[in-house]
Amino acid sequence: MEAIGARCDADVWADEWAIPRDELLRRLPGKRGAVTLLTERVDAEFLDAAPDLVIVANYAVGFDNIDVEECTRRGVMASNTPEVLTETTADTAWALLMAAARRVPEGDRFLRSRIPWIWGPQMMLGQDVHDRTLGVVGFGRIGQSVARRAMGFGMRIVYYDLYRPPEEIERELGAQYLEFDELLAQADFISIHVALTPETRHLFGPEQFRAMRPTSVLVNTSRGPVIDEAALAAALRDGEIFAAGLDVFEKEPEVHPDLLDAPNAVIIAHLGSATVDTRNAMGTLAAENLIAALEGRRPPTLLNPEAWESRSGSTG
Ligand code: DGY
Repeated sequence: MEAIGARCDADVWADEWAIPRDELLRRLPGKRGAVTLLTERVDAEFLDAAPDLVIVANYAVGFDNIDVEECTRRGVMASNTPEVLTETTADTAWALLMAAARRVPEGDRFLRSRIPWIWGPQMMLGQDVHDRTLGVVGFGRIGQSVARRAMGFGMRIVYYDLYRPPEEIERELGAQYLEFDELLAQADFISIHVALTPETRHLFGPEQFRAMRPTSVLVNTSRGPVIDEAALAAALRDGEIFAAGLDVFEKEPEVHPDLLDAPNAVIIAHLGSATVDTRNAMGTLAAENLIAALEGRRPPTLLNPEAWESRSGSTG
């Protein structure tokens, strides 16, 4: 905010909650740049309201809220905030994995219920994490960082992705590529790190839960619609899988009521990148992208280089 305020005449929605759509559309005309959150849909309607727009700088690494193709068609640059949140999001995935495997929130809720208790050998048994198999679905930056954490727990690491990383990454992490179905069958823990696209929507549904181990734990810090939430709630209820750790939801901010009632679902409110340092770094990067574009420079983390090329006449 400071960086932008020092260089631009800024119209700021300062509320913590998302700007209502009407208000956003009312304020867009005449603007040359916009910093957007994942709560803002950048589509034809948005772009129609801002015919002078040069850049949409998203304050998130995920950009499924932006119709990048439409931006490119109109010569509007779009950027995101990769790298700066990788480790923090991997930490969150790991926290969910541990919490779900070892029933941490359930134990916490139990004590707070003030039900009289005494230690018992079969009480709240969970799943071991160490020496088990971690399956990473989507083996980009964040998926690889989660795998790095798993190395410290002596885990076997398997992954599935449409794009294979360089061999030295596989070697460094001791990670083995598996076909998706094979990963579902072999993994004790599955952590999802794919972008939301038409191909990944409901990548996990009834069939996939049936293919997973009854002792397995599913973690999602990517985007909610990658999981069919009703099917997940049923799988948790029927013991098709052991537990789930979820940071994101199919119809966010709604959470499926059956998940709210599932004791073996650990749920947090899209907090993957929510640390002071990381949110500052995301803000700084979004501001750098915005200011660069407005000053005629190439934004550092541009999603659609074609838009830059068409504006600057450059080819790089
Ligand atoms: C992202 O960056 O895509 C997260 O969902 C919010 O930090």
